Amino acid sequence: MKIQQMRNEALKNEMNITWNAEKYTSDFSFVHQYGNYVAELIDAAPGSFVLDLGCGNGALTKVLQDKGYRVIGMDASGELLDVARKNHPAIEFVQGDAANFVLPEPVDVVFSNAVFHWIEKEKQPDMIKCVYNTLKKNGQFVFEFGGYNNNRIIHSALANVFQEHGFCYKIPFYFPTIGEYASLLESAGFQVKYAVLFDRLTELKGENGMEEWINMFVKRPFTVIRSEHEKAEIINRTVEELRRDLFINGKWYADYVRIRMKAVRS
Ligand code: BEZ
Repeated sequence: MKIQQMRNEALKNEMNITWNAEKYTSDFSFVHQYGNYVAELIDAAPGSFVLDLGCGNGALTKVLQDKGYRVIGMDASGELLDVARKNHPAIEFVQGDAANFVLPEPVDVVFSNAVFHWIEKEKQPDMIKCVYNTLKKNGQFVFEFGGYNNNRIIHSALANVFQEHGFCYKIPFYFPTIGEYASLLESAGFQVKYAVLFDRLTELKGENGMEEWINMFVKRPFTVIRSEHEKAEIINRTVEELRRDLFINGKWYADYVRIRMKAVRS
């Protein structure tokens, strides 16, 4: 690997965002499968223009197109956009930062699934402002992401094992309550029409499902651990600690909590 490439990888780990696009698409397909339910909250005429914010591999952008909308997908990850463009060559995908973007034309709907927990709390107002500015008057903002106490059991186990090894564990995601997020939306000028916070125990693929989930999604906390051996030990211990609660009838589950909302631009 070239030095610049190595620096980029280290920076992405620091931000807790690296994507193995192929593995994400093959082993974590539940992410976009559940997104179908979120898309049902959109109430717009065929031909309406919809932005899929944080479109990832484009699977849900395609679902939105199949519903009869004119669509555009935006994502920060070049790796995921490569997959999206390859799988859906007839759809327009653009690279962009959800907290700092401008589209050349306003949209009727901004849709987003399983993305906003990746955006730091401090950047959420900027992201919501970008969404507001890109929507037409009365435009809809429909989304779901990880809500308050999402993966509480997994992160508690990681925190315990990190502590045993002398490290501090900080959850690298933003999981708000409905009250907190509704306030942010209202401060930006949105009217909240629908909000729900619910548990969704989600099956993981394969007998190493939990280990793979941790390896795929929890990057930043491990950047302080220099030894690969110690990292593997921490993951193994965490998986063993989680077995009692999240290995059920021979299958691994993640203790997801979703926040799902619909807001309208005034
Ligand atoms: C989520 O969809 O809630 C999620 C996925 C990966 C990491 C954190 C949260």
